[in-house]
Amino acid sequence: MAKVKIITGADNEVLRAKSLPVENFDSGLKKLIKKMREQMKEAKGLGLAAPQIGENLRVCVAVLNYDTSEEITVPMINPKILASGDDKICDEEGCLSLPGIYAKVERWKEIIVEFYDERGSKHIFQLSELNARVVQHEMDHLDGILFIDRIKNKDTAGGVVM
Ligand code: CO
Repeated sequence: MAKVKIITGADNEVLRAKSLPVENFDSGLKKLIKKMREQMKEAKGLGLAAPQIGENLRVCVAVLNYDTSEEITVPMINPKILASGDDKICDEEGCLSLPGIYAKVERWKEIIVEFYDERGSKHIFQLSELNARVVQHEMDHLDGILFIDRIKNKDTAGGVVM
């Protein structure tokens, strides 16, 4: 099988575009998801969004319950956050499209996300902690947002602002 390269670069056009909703749950979509699962696994990521392999479609795959007996990889099509809790938490993130960059990013601690699977069935998941973080990170990709955009006080990292 042909290898697909993960697109990198904070200024890349495809990574910065707003992706379009999936309308046809066809064999092309299944192929795309299969490719995304393989790429994510090969790159050892916890998630991957379609724009990262060159497709501006609202599709991502996310590893949930990472490193537990319940670990699963879930493809999410046209995901939408229906609700979030009141709390945000700050934790370190990286991105396969920004190799070597890691930073603390604030995210909702809990979210309720609605999405479709590759057969077109709707699911609603309540997620927290790392599961919620991964999905928020991947969903940002669908709107052309990278985690570095969400770093606070970029210019004063390690210092205080007065
Ligand atoms: Co990413």
